[in-house]
Amino acid sequence: MKDPLRILTVIGARPQIIKAAAISHAVRTAFSGRIHETLLHTGQHYDANMSQVFFDELGIPHADISLGVGSGPHGAQTARMIEGIEAEINTGKHDVVLLYGDTNSTLAGAVAAAKLHVPVAHVEAGLRSFNKAMPEEVNRIVCDHCSTWLFCPTETAVKNLAREGFSLDLGAPATADRPHVVASGDVMYDNSMRFARMAAARSTLVAGLGLADGGFLLATIHRDHNTDDAARINAIFSSLLELHHRHGLPVVLPVHPRTRKMMAALLHANVRAALDDAAGFHVLPPVGFLDMVALERAARLVVTDSGGVQKEAYFFGKPVVVLRPETEWVELVEQGQAVLADADPGKIEAAATHFLQGGVPPCPPIFGDGHAAEAICAHLLGA
Ligand code: UD1
Ligand code: UDP
Repeated sequence: MKDPLRILTVIGARPQIIKAAAISHAVRTAFSGRIHETLLHTGQHYDANMSQVFFDELGIPHADISLGVGSGPHGAQTARMIEGIEAEINTGKHDVVLLYGDTNSTLAGAVAAAKLHVPVAHVEAGLRSFNKAMPEEVNRIVCDHCSTWLFCPTETAVKNLAREGFSLDLGAPATADRPHVVASGDVMYDNSMRFARMAAARSTLVAGLGLADGGFLLATIHRDHNTDDAARINAIFSSLLELHHRHGLPVVLPVHPRTRKMMAALLHANVRAALDDAAGFHVLPPVGFLDMVALERAARLVVTDSGGVQKEAYFFGKPVVVLRPETEWVELVEQGQAVLADADPGKIEAAATHFLQGGVPPCPPIFGDGHAAEAICAHLLGA
């Protein structure tokens, strides 16, 4: 029997830990004995409700290596991660480095592995916002161009890579200079399908808050572009308060730690007071994934700047007001399920009213068949 393929998976930020659940599960079930996975956690996210909760809930094995890098400016944080990942790769124990998404942990893994000539597999490759002011856009471009396997969640992602000169020919074996671009589907779709039933059985949050199915608005905000700018964060919170009052809808807002910090620093006193006074406006700490899925499935409308939450809303057939000027998930806008409203109160109100009065357009499956993780593992094994 052949030796198993030894994968070093690098995770660090909340959405990567969640995404890792899908491939980690496939490795331990359908691919048991053929793939061996080592998990390295950079420590980019470290609060229990931004990290440990997902290991506990989603059955992800504990991290084999924890770098404990923590927060910091981009350069210092990424540099500490590169050092730690480089040391691990230098043990010679890994055949492939597997990376998710577009965070600083992704960037660090790509740079460390590419320089040591260990092939990189990038899950969620090919996404582009065409806005290089976003740190994520820089991270994902660098990672894609260091990768040997680029696993694309959508057809748009494949087209973006073709436009950048990537060949779509899978004829020869993949190398760093002749990478494979693979339309694999989206591991987040796998997860949402797999954990939806568990969320229905275990999450008590919606009932606990006294909310009716289809009777509230779910919001998340964490992009630095929104949180770190006084005018934008105040405009967004004022808009959410306006939606709450005008449409009589309770609001649930699980708050990212970046946002919590910036709310304290930048929200005007009158906005803060209005939040405190609004009885049906639930400002919560970050919630676990099962609670999040339960909230997404029960919400009437989602308002977010998160990449992952936009898509999960689509998976569950919920309309989304996107608090960004552009999105990588252009299919959602094309389907009419998402409207780009930026941090503009007029656009946010118009988009919300459009959805609250007009209902939800159809959300046909465009993120694969719920088995992206297995497709990725099979491709890495050359099956
Ligand atoms: C990061 C990613 C972003 C991703 C998001 C997912 C980068 C450049 N950004 O943004 O792409 O969408 O994660 O959530 O990699 N903090 C805590 N506790 C934690 C983690 C963070 O208090 O457990 C606070 C710290 O003050 C920190 C700030 O949040 O400085 C920002 O954290 P950081 O990981 O740098 O960026 P995110 O905004 O989380
Ligand atoms: N999420 C969660 N709890 C929360 C907010 C988000 O479990 O309080 C999940 C969400 O369901 C999705 C992922 O975190 O799977 C999205 O992460 P985030 O919004 O932090 O980052 P992005 O996707 O924008 O990179």
